Amino acid sequence: TTERTFVLLKPDTVRRGLVGEVLSRYEAKGLRVVALQQRTIDAALADQHYVEHVERDFYPPLRDFVTSGPLVAVVLEGDQAIEVVRALNGATDGRVAAPGTIRGDFSLSNRENLVHGSDSPESAAREIALWFPELAR
Ligand code: CMP
Repeated sequence: TTERTFVLLKPDTVRRGLVGEVLSRYEAKGLRVVALQQRTIDAALADQHYVEHVERDFYPPLRDFVTSGPLVAVVLEGDQAIEVVRALNGATDGRVAAPGTIRGDFSLSNRENLVHGSDSPESAAREIALWFPELAR
């Protein structure tokens, strides 16, 4: 089934000059870029995006990190896009993520792990509506 998923290239990806590298991996896999925007977000949007994590111990530094500079928000489309993107991204912690994944190849951190991908169809719909209201459907 063709799906849309939401991806963030977090500020570490932009700072490290890895936007092209990361986008290339999604495109090479066959996913299509439906929408893309570079922006710097405030704490309020970070809190909405990470609503399920705002009470967690790791959240305050995560919020500081995601608001620390420009990031790139992307909507990707393709067959089983949600699961495919999560496989390409690799495990959350870059230290244990498998080589060959984005995090496994480029991150050595549990927080600065380069990318975010929606974890379910419900999250994808919510996140796309939050970041790209013009795409909500
Ligand atoms: P993401 O896929 O964006 O979803 C939540 C984010 O929180 C995760 O990627 C990491 O950036 C961050 N995160 C998750 N667990 C931890 C943790 N234990 N310590 C620090 N950051 C974390």
